[in-house]
Formats: sequence, C-alpha cells, structure tokens
Amino acid sequence: MNKIVVAIDGYSSCGKSTTAKIVAKELHYAYIDTGAMYRAVTLYFQEHYIDLTNPKKVSQALQEIHISFERNARTQRNEVFLNGLNVEDEIRKMYISNKVSEVSVIPEVRHCLVKQQQKMGKKRGVVMDGRDIGTTVFPDAEVKVFMTADVYTRAQRRQQELLLNGEMVPLDEIKENLEKRDRIDSTRKESPLVQAADAKLLDTSHITIDEQVDFVLNMVAAKIFQSEYTESDKC
Ligand code: DC
Repeated sequence: MNKIVVAIDGYSSCGKSTTAKIVAKELHYAYIDTGAMYRAVTLYFQEHYIDLTNPKKVSQALQEIHISFERNARTQRNEVFLNGLNVEDEIRKMYISNKVSEVSVIPEVRHCLVKQQQKMGKKRGVVMDGRDIGTTVFPDAEVKVFMTADVYTRAQRRQQELLLNGEMVPLDEIKENLEKRDRIDSTRKESPLVQAADAKLLDTSHITIDEQVDFVLNMVAAKIFQSEYTESDKC
C-alpha cells in the first residue's frame, strides 16, 4: 500500500507526541510535531516584541521565520530549529506555554503554518500531531485519532516533562495553563480543536504508552489490510 498520513489530535499533554514519535519510528515515517511550530512562532514573537493585535506586523514577522526539524543523533530526538537555532528546550518552557494559544488563534499564523504542514506531508508517509490535523491540515488522512485524558493526569505528566527540562512548576499552575489552553484551542474561530467525525477517540487516562501506540498501530494495520483486500479483490 502507498504511504498514508496518520493524524493524532487532542488536548494538551495527553501523550500525543510520545505516541506519535514511536508510531512514526515503527512505520519508518517522518514525525511532525505541529505544536512545536506554534511554539517556535510564539518564541520569535516574544523575542521581537511583535504586537499580536497588528495583523500587518504579524504577517511581516512571519516572513522572517524559518522553522525546520532535525534529528539529533545523540538524543535520538527530532528537534525544532528556528532560523537555524536549536530551540527545542526553550519552546517547552512555561512562559511559552502561557502565550502559545494566544498566538495560535491568529488567522495569519494559522494560514502560514497549515500551508507549511501540508507541504511537509505532501508525499504522505507522515505521523503528525496537533489540534487540527484531521480536520484542517489533512482532512483526508487515512488514520485519525483524537486523544483525551483527565486534566489531573495530564498536569502530572506535564510536570514531569518540565522537571526533565529543569523547570519546577506547581501542579495547580500547570493545570490552570492546560485548562486555559484547552478552552482557547477549542473555541477559536479558525480550525478549532474538535474531534473529526471520522476520528477514533482514545482516552489515555488509565493506559500505558505501549497501549496507546498499539491502538494507533492497529488502526494503521487495519487500514492497510482493508486497502490491500479491496485492491486484490479487483479483477
Ligand atoms: O502540542 P502543544 O501543547 O505543544 O501545542 C502548543 C499549542 O499550539 C496548543 O496549545 C495550541 C497550538 N496548536 C494549534 O493551535 N494547532 C496545532 N496543530 C498544534 C498546536
């Protein structure tokens, strides 16, 4: 079967990236963390004091931004670069999390990043995670998963990630940030966070990473089997 697109959407810190990374590795597909792209734009806007209420300034700034992903052989991670500079750790910090949803509602930002993401997945063979992959970026994705989990579990997971990045943030503050981002992401006008009609819901509150990965890989296998069966069925 030809290569497919696997779209993994859902709420913040449900384990989307962790799952997507492993699935991509198993399938020998590229992994694209679209949240990292919104975070990189947020970092640039912060560093250059861009007025988010001025569409002209926002559009001008977007012209100056080049985002790329590179594999780090030492950490085995796909890391994000902003204008040639590795910003993987910086964009995960709390001050970026506190601002990123505000930047993600801006139509100019969304148009620009959606276009880049569509280009990155044009040849298919990608696992992409985000908020609008199955609805806007690749509405024709062959496999669509929508992840959710209870907010307390998500906050605990996020706290662990931040700790590994050297930042100690109280659980309440993280929980508040997740709830605020969920609210902004789900209610924005442009490509809001919603489950695509043909996406399968996966609640990760009480399951392991291996189970999450198996869920997605089983969907991929079923899709491939279905398509091969349909093809071989033809005279
Ligand atoms: O996946 P993440 O938590 O790193 O994403 C950070 C923010 O980026 C999230 O709160 C909303 C935004 N985002 C988006 O609007 N659309 C996407 N496809 C991915 C992320």
